[in-house]
Amino acid sequence: MHSPQIAPSILSADFARLGDEVRAVDAAGADVIHVDVMDGHFVPNITIGPCVVQSLKQVTSLPLDCHLMIENPDQYIGDFAEAGADMISVHVEACRHLHRTIQLIRSHGVSPGVAVNPATPVEAVVPILGDVDFVLLMSVNPGFGGQSFIPSVLNKIRRLRSIADDLNPNLKLEVDGGIKTDNVAMVREAGIDIFVAGSAIFGQSDYSEVIQRFKTLVG
Ligand code: DX5
Ligand code: ZN
Repeated sequence: MHSPQIAPSILSADFARLGDEVRAVDAAGADVIHVDVMDGHFVPNITIGPCVVQSLKQVTSLPLDCHLMIENPDQYIGDFAEAGADMISVHVEACRHLHRTIQLIRSHGVSPGVAVNPATPVEAVVPILGDVDFVLLMSVNPGFGGQSFIPSVLNKIRRLRSIADDLNPNLKLEVDGGIKTDNVAMVREAGIDIFVAGSAIFGQSDYSEVIQRFKTLVG
């Protein structure tokens, strides 16, 4: 396992004050900024595109982690890279030629990851583990913030951690969905390195307090 990182998801931020919200979580000790990109096709919701990433790049030096919940991600990877994405994950369920897509992300100098829905077995990403820097395990069905953590994902995390320890010890595991201060320690124990949290952070008035609590709990 790697040292733990806390990644606030801006999906739960106040979009009218997005720059200030990102500055605030940066100052409060966030390690990564998680950017949820939704197209209304792969998931029922629509959010933001590369121009927002470009604007956020001006207000923080933290890594921008772009989670593409979109069909045909190849079409947009160059735009997100140019906008300043540091990490890009694509869904295994959305990629017909996943290996090619991962290579495309890397060719832009961006750290590639693959995201896995709760009902997709971890075996679906085993062949790509040597080519990605991280796997994002969804612990809710993608599309919305504020949903409850799906407990069966814990076993997937444990299984993937042990497979990864053999195949690619540098691989980081990221979890996304329903992460709160009351379940984060258990999720860390299962083998997660990067913790995405949207409503648990932006739903509090004191970002610093909640991020520090997360950090204490994940050790
Ligand atoms: C859901 C997104 C998540 C979401 C998490 O589709 O990928 O990043 O913002 O929100 P919480 O932490 O509120 O479950
Ligand atoms: Zn996400």
